[in-house]
Amino acid sequence: MTTQAPAVATLRLLGGFQVSQALYVAARAGVADRLLDGPVALGVLADSVGLRPDPLRRILRVLGAEDVFAFDQQQDVVALGPLGHTLVTGGADSVRSIALAWMETHYAPFAELWGTATTGVPAAELAFGRPFFDWLGQDSARTATFTAAMADFTLAVRQHAFSRVELDGVGTVVDVGGADGTVLAGLAERYPAVRGVVFDLPHVVRGAEAVVRARGVGDRISVVGGDFFVEVPSGDCYLACFVLHDWSDEQAARILARIREAAAVADARLVLVETVLDVGPAPQVAQLLDLTMLGLVAGRERTTGDWRRLLAGSGFRLERVRATEGPMCVIEARRLP
Ligand SMILES: C[S@@+](CC[C@H](N)C(=O)[O-])C[C@H]1O[C@@H](n2cnc3c(N)ncnc32)[C@H](O)[C@@H]1O
Repeated sequence: MTTQAPAVATLRLLGGFQVSQALYVAARAGVADRLLDGPVALGVLADSVGLRPDPLRRILRVLGAEDVFAFDQQQDVVALGPLGHTLVTGGADSVRSIALAWMETHYAPFAELWGTATTGVPAAELAFGRPFFDWLGQDSARTATFTAAMADFTLAVRQHAFSRVELDGVGTVVDVGGADGTVLAGLAERYPAVRGVVFDLPHVVRGAEAVVRARGVGDRISVVGGDFFVEVPSGDCYLACFVLHDWSDEQAARILARIREAAAVADARLVLVETVLDVGPAPQVAQLLDLTMLGLVAGRERTTGDWRRLLAGSGFRLERVRATEGPMCVIEARRLP
């Protein structure tokens, strides 16, 4: 094994922004989709995905070295590499929508990270002149891209966590910040007695009716639009996946207060699916997500102690943190009477 000189290793890290954009171009053009049936000559590939051959060749050289594609430069033929299937549209572990969303909504703000480090203001707010979710909500295509990325996260990155969410004995589960209903529909399939509510901002939750209907659980899942800082629907179990990490402790406590008020039973269950910085096999993913929270919103990833303190200060008792094989944990808590 060759060891890289430190300067070269750092140079590779510095080039991360270029690799991200190269992945974006390949994902957006549908290069991996086009290669599903086998290797394709570069010129034919370029033609069929609408890119120019020379830029595509140079982009694929980089992504070939990263194991995304296998690029035979002698024959000028391209195939999927070991990671290629993760860019295939709708594949079981596809992150294609994440590639699109991150480059279209996260990439530009990160040019302002210096501003965040010196002022504490999220980079997205410096770049867009308004809070990230406000900016996102201004444009329906942008919102759709982001929501699709969340669905990719669910299928490709967080399955381990959802298989650990236990809803035995639950009557009505409210998925707070439930986006397009993908998460709750999956859980409802596993728990045929459970009824549920997908709750999210009105413009986000609009697509959820179709998702729950398509998954055959539309008769048990209702869809409600609203603002979780104002009010959330009533239930005996609350689910919040990847939601509280978007917010500061003070904001997260306000959301938890709304859940406390709306809970239909004194000891209502609260299930959070989040990363926990000191638990789980993939701390780098949690650390990178923490940087995402720093740059985009006022949120943060949290340690077990942070979660315990936040929950206790909001009238909930942390009961268990369950690690999974993936980067996410299941945090189980109960409302204190
Ligand atoms: C990171 S996404 C997670 C979505 C989903 N729970 C998942 O795990 O795929 C955060 C969600 O919170 C929603 N959200 C943000 N502000 C909200 C508000 N004030 N009221 C209700 N939902 C909100 C967003 O629209 C988004 O769907």
